[in-house]
Amino acid sequence: MTRILVTGATGAVGARVVRELQARQADVRAFVRDPGKMSGVETAAGDFDDPASLRRALDGVDRVYLCAADGPRKVAHETAVIDAAAAAGVERIVKLSAMHADPDSALPPFRWHGTIEEHLRGSGVPAVILRPAYFMTNLLMVAGGIAHTGVLPAPTAGRGVAMIDVRDVAAVAAVTLLDEGHPGHAYELTGPTPVTFAQVAAALSAATGRTVTSLDLTAEQARPRFAGAGLPDWLAAHLAGVFALIRDGGFERTTGHVPAITGRPARDITGFAGDFAAAFTPPAEVAV
Ligand SMILES: NC(=O)c1ccc[n+]([C@@H]2O[C@H](COP(=O)([O-])OP(=O)(O)OC[C@H]3O[C@@H](n4cnc5c(N)ncnc54)[C@H](OP(=O)(O)O)[C@@H]3O)[C@@H](O)[C@H]2O)c1
Repeated sequence: MTRILVTGATGAVGARVVRELQARQADVRAFVRDPGKMSGVETAAGDFDDPASLRRALDGVDRVYLCAADGPRKVAHETAVIDAAAAAGVERIVKLSAMHADPDSALPPFRWHGTIEEHLRGSGVPAVILRPAYFMTNLLMVAGGIAHTGVLPAPTAGRGVAMIDVRDVAAVAAVTLLDEGHPGHAYELTGPTPVTFAQVAAALSAATGRTVTSLDLTAEQARPRFAGAGLPDWLAAHLAGVFALIRDGGFERTTGHVPAITGRPARDITGFAGDFAAAFTPPAEVAV
């Protein structure tokens, strides 16, 4: 049976990749720093900074889902996995990348992804690259503020974003890990349609039963919010850059890869808002 190592297995996508693979009766091993964080799956304890732990985790593994956290160590972490996988004779890597990945990007995460993609192509390991658009779950970062104020502020100039649900990203990862015909492909993954933040606010209003309004900020108005949010400098710069791309229409295009690969429609913002309504609702109003 094909054995699959899932890295980033406690992550937003990775944890769902584990579940999607298990639902398909796959033989899964989760690479985790703290095995206490995961149950119901075989774990291999390790750290991307510990090459011996990677070698142990890859023993007997055929395919790998590749995802490390964004940050200054990302390229070192993911290239270490690629090199160890190549040395271990792994037959396929499915890498979680990002739309706009480019080794020359001014935005650090997109530059890191572009650099890793190049390394992966040069490794000789057959690979599938997944380049999702903006995650709907990014909205959870501001859910507390929305619950408190009823306002969704964003510097989008009214442009749409083909947001994707991470559950669809995970489903695509599982299928491309298991099925034939995908290695050699890079898939841009999007939701079914671009949505404006006014449409997001309307979906949240319907889901929570409270009025949520969107507030379109200028880039200048938004800059201190990113810079002053206590985020690492690279992340504050990245968020400002992502919204500049959004204002240029860089996240409006949609692709049909989610339905083509998973066999069912991509999740839309209405479904996301319904499933996560509690996060956008003040605690006192959450039904008990
Ligand atoms: N947000 C978006 O809109 C968007 C869009 C497109 C692409 N992406 C990409 O999606 C990726 C993030 O995916 P995600 O949200 O599933 O990840 P995540 O939630 O950030 O999880 C990161 C994972 O990496 C693990 N990890 C961190 N450092 C490690 C180390 N030294 N050794 C071993 N494991 C380590 C973490 O484990 P611990 O539990 O031990 O910390 C965790 O499982 C990023 O590359 C991002 O660029 C995001």
